[in-house]
Amino acid sequence: MSQTIRFFLNGQKQEASVRPDTTVLDWLRSGPRLTGTKEGCAEGDCGACSVLIGDPWFDDAHHEGAVHYQAANSCILAMGQIDGRAVVTVEGLKTEQLHPVQAAMAENGSSQCGFCTPGIVISLAGLAAQRSAAGAGLSAQGSAAGAGLAARKTQVTDSDIHDALAGNLCRCTGYRPIVEAARKVGNATIAGPHVAAFAKIEPRKTISAAGSTFHQPQSLNDLLQLRKEMPDAILLGGGTDLGVALADYHSDWSEVISLARVRELRAMRETENHLSFGAAVTWEEILAGIIEYYPSFATLIRRFGSTQIRSMGTIGGNIGTASPIGDGPPALIALGAEIELASLSGHRFLALEDFFLDYRKTELRADEVIASVSIPKPVEGQEFRVYKISKRYDQDISTVCAAFSIVREEGQVRSARIAFGGMAATPQRAPKAEQALVGSMFDQRAIETCASAITAQFKPLSDWRGSAEYRLQVAANLAERFWRDVAGETVEVMAL
Ligand SMILES: Cc1cc2nc3c(=O)[nH]c(=O)nc-3n(C[C@H](O)[C@H](O)[C@H](O)COP(=O)(O)OP(=O)(O)OC[C@H]3O[C@@H](n4cnc5c(N)ncnc54)[C@H](O)[C@@H]3O)c2cc1C
Ligand code: FES
Ligand code: FES
Repeated sequence: MSQTIRFFLNGQKQEASVRPDTTVLDWLRSGPRLTGTKEGCAEGDCGACSVLIGDPWFDDAHHEGAVHYQAANSCILAMGQIDGRAVVTVEGLKTEQLHPVQAAMAENGSSQCGFCTPGIVISLAGLAAQRSAAGAGLSAQGSAAGAGLAARKTQVTDSDIHDALAGNLCRCTGYRPIVEAARKVGNATIAGPHVAAFAKIEPRKTISAAGSTFHQPQSLNDLLQLRKEMPDAILLGGGTDLGVALADYHSDWSEVISLARVRELRAMRETENHLSFGAAVTWEEILAGIIEYYPSFATLIRRFGSTQIRSMGTIGGNIGTASPIGDGPPALIALGAEIELASLSGHRFLALEDFFLDYRKTELRADEVIASVSIPKPVEGQEFRVYKISKRYDQDISTVCAAFSIVREEGQVRSARIAFGGMAATPQRAPKAEQALVGSMFDQRAIETCASAITAQFKPLSDWRGSAEYRLQVAANLAERFWRDVAGETVEVMAL
């Protein structure tokens, strides 16, 4: 058992003797006093606390390695989560010269009060580094990820820049000068440790300091053993849900089991008919894998928090948190996803809709973990769309999320799956609305019956995001939107 957390900080090997549930932001500012990293919201929303997290990634074909950097919110990241990784703060970007993003921001007058600037520079430096790695032949693909699932891209588009900035709030400069600076940068590497150096900071199995213990199992079997021994320990995916409570309510994590290094949970697999994602695969990785098959799902994932949230938040965490307004479950249910629950007693598989029992209550037993999620690949005649209705396009919680999937044969609907978030205490299927479509031609009459069935089934709550009446109206309207989209009248698909 170790009492220290080992990592690279701005290129230098570092050992921190600190409770592993201390937030990285608190440690950076109060330990080494790297105060360029700011605290704004302390809940993952504003990006002022952004840092780059580097991991060694390998190209499966050539076995060449490179350090893959991605932006993360240090306010909701626990110190235990950076053990064995590299952290780059805004102070570490500058070498003898300013980093190209810093230079472009300064030359372009892209900063006024400057509070948001370090976070913005970090996000753009992360984008530039990923593009450099892609240019060098290392794709946005982790060593644990299955071949053929990741996207490889070298050019930076305006859409990439907007995406990289979606999690960074600037209240005074305005985004035009920031985007203009970003356009001037293109690709740029991060000065940091070589991939081989990571051998010196191999992650420890257990770190314990001042009453907080952080376990990092590397195999599913070790994880399940720990889970059996410690059913009350916090099961930590990316911590984008749990980290908010850590930062906001200063909750103590006395015993944590991290899933981030469990090989089986980090795997992505593609078979003839299915895509399978280990529960600890992040949304950013899923985005790269799903876009080819379900572009509408990719568009939804692109609106999932921000790059900082997607680079840490996992599919298992989104399901495990069992929020009635989580975005993953409605899409996954409509696609017919199945989840694998694992314990030392064995593995069981169930349709995702059967996992959610009541508000934040699930089928998961105390000794179990969600191990993987399997999604059928599209079949001939299938149409799938998912819609997220929220007050803002980016970085916002759904008021209603609706997912529709049909399979047609000669114009007639052979099967239908429809699921909603934000309409009940759990993500739910709409069986009567599905029945309204099956066996009919996919026409206006069928869709009107389907919309009426949706209105009849749900009794949503009113809250500050939307009234019950609004939710019902929107949910019914989305059925019509689906029909119009399939007819080719409107399209909302992410640009590649
Ligand atoms: C700023 C911000 C924006 C967000 N935007 C969105 C959004 O647009 N849409 C959306 O749906 N969500 C959003 N979220 C919520 C969150 O990012 C997601 O739910 C994410 O997928 C959670 O994954 P995680 O790995 O970070 O979960 P964690 O925080 O690690 O865990 C969440 C819960 O799941 C449990 N858990 C994790 N993994 C497993 C497993 N394998 N087996 C069993 N239980 C497990 C944990 O014990 C915990 O109870 C946002 C959060 C923040 C802070
Ligand atoms: S302080 Fe706002 S995202 Fe971390
Ligand atoms: S420059 Fe002031 S908040 Fe962005």
